[in-house]
This record gives sequence, C-alpha cells and structure tokens, in this order.
Amino acid sequence: MASLEGKTILVTGAAKRIGRSIALRLHAEGARVAIHYSTSEAGARQTAAECGNAPLYRANLESVAEIEAMFREIDATLGPLDGLVNNAARFTRFDPLEITEADWDFIHDVNLKAVFFCCQQAARRMKSRGHGRIVNISSLGGLRPWAEHAHYCASKAGVVMLTRALAKAFGPEIGVNSVAPGVIPFGEWNDAMEAMVRATPAGRPGTGAEIADAVVYFLTASNFVTGQILAVDGGLSQR
Ligand SMILES: NC(=O)c1ccc[n+]([C@@H]2O[C@H](COP(=O)([O-])OP(=O)(O)OC[C@H]3O[C@@H](n4cnc5c(N)ncnc54)[C@H](OP(=O)(O)O)[C@@H]3O)[C@@H](O)[C@H]2O)c1
Repeated sequence: MASLEGKTILVTGAAKRIGRSIALRLHAEGARVAIHYSTSEAGARQTAAECGNAPLYRANLESVAEIEAMFREIDATLGPLDGLVNNAARFTRFDPLEITEADWDFIHDVNLKAVFFCCQQAARRMKSRGHGRIVNISSLGGLRPWAEHAHYCASKAGVVMLTRALAKAFGPEIGVNSVAPGVIPFGEWNDAMEAMVRATPAGRPGTGAEIADAVVYFLTASNFVTGQILAVDGGLSQR
C-alpha cells in the first residue's frame, strides 16, 4: 500500500464531525490536507490549525461554478491533488407524502450533484497526471431503506452507484471507492439512533476515527481496489 506522506488531499465538509476526523487523520499520516468548508468558518480554522495550518477553501457545493472555482484555487495555491474525499452532505427527515421540490433539491444538490462534479473536477486533473484516489462518503441509508429519509436514501444510493460507475470511467489511473457509515453520533442522541444501535452487532455506535480508518485504506490501496463500498456500521447492514 502507498503512503500518504506528502500527498495532497482535499476533504470536503472538514470543519467538524466526520470530515474533521478524516482531515486530522490524513494530517497524522503525513498528507497535505486541503480543508473545505461552507458556513463553519471557525470550525474550519480550528481543523486547519490542527492540520499544520492547512489551507482553507470556502465553497457552497450546491453551485457547480463554486466547485470549479474551488478546484482552480487549489491548483493555484496547493498544486495537483492526489486525493479527494467527498464528505460534505446534508441530512433531513420528511414524510415522502409531504416533501417538496425544494426539500428534494436541498438534499440532492449537495449529497449527489456536488459529489459528481467534485469527482469530475478532481478526475480531469488526476487523469492527466496518471494517478489519483477518490473516496465518496455514502451512508448505510444508501444501502438500506429508511422510510422517513427516502430522499436522503435515494441521494446516498446515488453516491453508491456513482462510485461504481466512475470506478469504470476513471480507471485504471484513478481508484474510486466509498465508505458507508452507520450511526456515528457527535453528542446528539434520539430514539431512532437508540433503536439502530440496539440492532447493531457491534453493540455500540461508531466514531469518526473509525470512518477515517476506512478512508485511509482506500486512499492508500492499489488500483486493484476500486468501485467498492465498505460499510463501517458495526455490522448493522447485515441485519
Ligand atoms: N454522522 C452519521 O451518523 C452519518 C451516518 C451515515 C453517513 N454519514 C455521512 O458521513 C458524512 C459526514 O457526516 P457528518 O454527520 O459528519 O456530516 P454533517 O456534519 O452533517 O455535514 C458535514 C459538512 O457538510 C457541509 N455541507 C453541507 N451543505 C453544504 C453545502 N451546501 N456546501 C458545502 N458544504 C456543505 C457542512 O459544512 P459547513 O458546516 O462548513 O457548512 C458540514 O459541516 C456525510 O456524507 C454523511 O451523509 C454520516
């Protein structure tokens, strides 16, 4: 497996929670981390400081123009990207009988459209250099149906299939894989989470560090590992 020492890797939504865990881990592995954020500037500054004063990039990923501008800014300030971790996403709950077009777009613009266009921007650059690794963070909700999150499940199932299709499109130079987290709480707790954890073979929720472990595996794997979806969910997807 390759080392991440000196590799340049963009993590989207890196200001807090799972994205922050991934950024900190990549920094600890010796990578040069590019920290993307949208609204959490203070959190992003904190993560960046802990990642050796890593550079910050602000973009609303709903906008393809802002995605393209962010990649141009990275070209100009950091140089070529070796890796991309598409972590940023939204999560909402709606009765599918009540959801509106705006509610649907709110989720899909970030969770699926932005993931595609970030992959496109990164892959155009990685293809010309002959090497790259992309990790898309999907979700257990992209593998299992959740009635009150049908719109979210559809967006994350889209990320799963996008990962598989782009692995075919971007090979052999670029590996494209996905990590599908189960329940990863950061202080919040509710009945639905409680029920899921009760059904989890591991008997506990997961941590951002455990998601970061899987991300590091895919970023360092050879190109013989591509198009794969790794559920890091304590075994919940096996139920
Ligand atoms: N936590 C879990 O239990 C769990 C379970 C399954 C899957 N996942 C997946 O794991 C990933 C991280 O989860 P999380 O719970 O840590 O996520 P989160 O905190 O809900 O969101 C991560 C980041 O996404 C960014 N984001 C949202 N909308 C954006 C936009 N329009 N433009 C740019 N950035 C935007 C936010 O950045 P700013 O704060 O800077 O605005 C936010 O900090 C997500 O893909 C999520 O779907 C999480």
